[in-house]
Amino acid sequence: MHRRLVRRMMLADAARPGVRAIAVLCMVVPAWAGTAWAQTSDLAAAQKQFVTSCAVCHAVEPGAPPRQGPNLSDRFGKPAATLEGFKYSEALTTSGFVWNEETMDRWITDSQAMRPGVTMLYRQADPMKRRLIIDYLKSLSGKS
Ligand code: HEC
Repeated sequence: MHRRLVRRMMLADAARPGVRAIAVLCMVVPAWAGTAWAQTSDLAAAQKQFVTSCAVCHAVEPGAPPRQGPNLSDRFGKPAATLEGFKYSEALTTSGFVWNEETMDRWITDSQAMRPGVTMLYRQADPMKRRLIIDYLKSLSGKS
């Protein structure tokens, strides 16, 4: 009797979309764990995360004017603070950073801790969200 009830609950769960989404996530995570910087297959989720976390201050359409921060359409792989027409802080201009997966991950983990004095105040403690954002920026510069 008890076992039948459990089975019925599992079936009911499987029918709920939320549960199915979690099941899909569980299949994706081990693939990331194996190859530290592997590309996520879900670019739509990556874009959504970027829009949520960064788009208020950063445009990504090529040629679009800066918001509070510079346009990020092709910054991946480039030295920091080299987009013409944006007035960067001195701290970022003199940083010597080149934007790759490692530096970008540190930057969005805590930009002020990475380089005190920069004018971007941002922290993201969730590595999954950082991963999505970095994948999105990579995809924009054709480096994915
Ligand atoms: C509240 C506004 C704000 C938010 C939110 C924000 N940024 Fe920024 N960002 C800035 C500003 C301002 C600068 C310029 C920093 C400086 O000159 O010191 C900047 C600079 C940058 C740069 C350096 C660009 C270059 O040309 O070297 C990168 C990369 C960057 N941001 C990525 C991100 C990402 C990714 C996110 C989302 C996780 C994000 N930012 C969220 C305001 C923001």
